[in-house]
Amino acid sequence: MSATAEMPYFIKPSRPLSPDQKRVVYAEARQAIRGVLGDEADEQVKMVTINCLLKTHIPYYYWVGFYVVRGEDQLVVGPYQGTLGCLYIPFGRGVCGTVAATGKTMIVDDTHALVQGKEHIACDPNSRSEIVLPVRRKDGSLIGVFDVDSTLEGSFDEVDERELEELLEEVFG
Ligand code: SME
Repeated sequence: MSATAEMPYFIKPSRPLSPDQKRVVYAEARQAIRGVLGDEADEQVKMVTINCLLKTHIPYYYWVGFYVVRGEDQLVVGPYQGTLGCLYIPFGRGVCGTVAATGKTMIVDDTHALVQGKEHIACDPNSRSEIVLPVRRKDGSLIGVFDVDSTLEGSFDEVDERELEELLEEVFG
């Protein structure tokens, strides 16, 4: 898929935040997500709400979305906000497929430093850093992965990892 580097009118480049600023916007976003979801049980409703409110509150979130497990070893694109995302990802391919295969969160400071097509799948050439986390149900089964891209290198750190792991556990676990 050859994505263009030109950003559509409805998408802006990422703006960085300090760790303390990150904690503030995550707290605001998580409060909003709790208020909207309440005791909602539908996984798709949870995903679309998380995408929308995290992208609303967090200025370095460029592409945000879910890839969900299909069959034994494939991910299929789920709800997302951003430019066109690739449709299918085999376990073990790219950052998302690796996280699905290992079950471990990955933070990539510079996606362009990875082997394209193998270690990283470039749905959008503007994406420069990425965090991907596994998403699990209460019984531990894998729903899929949660993928966030930034147009800046090094946007994601342990604050994002902890905040997102806590949020995904709270909403899906
Ligand atoms: N970059 C991801 C693919 C998903 S697109 O970025 C939305 C990966 O390497 O798995």
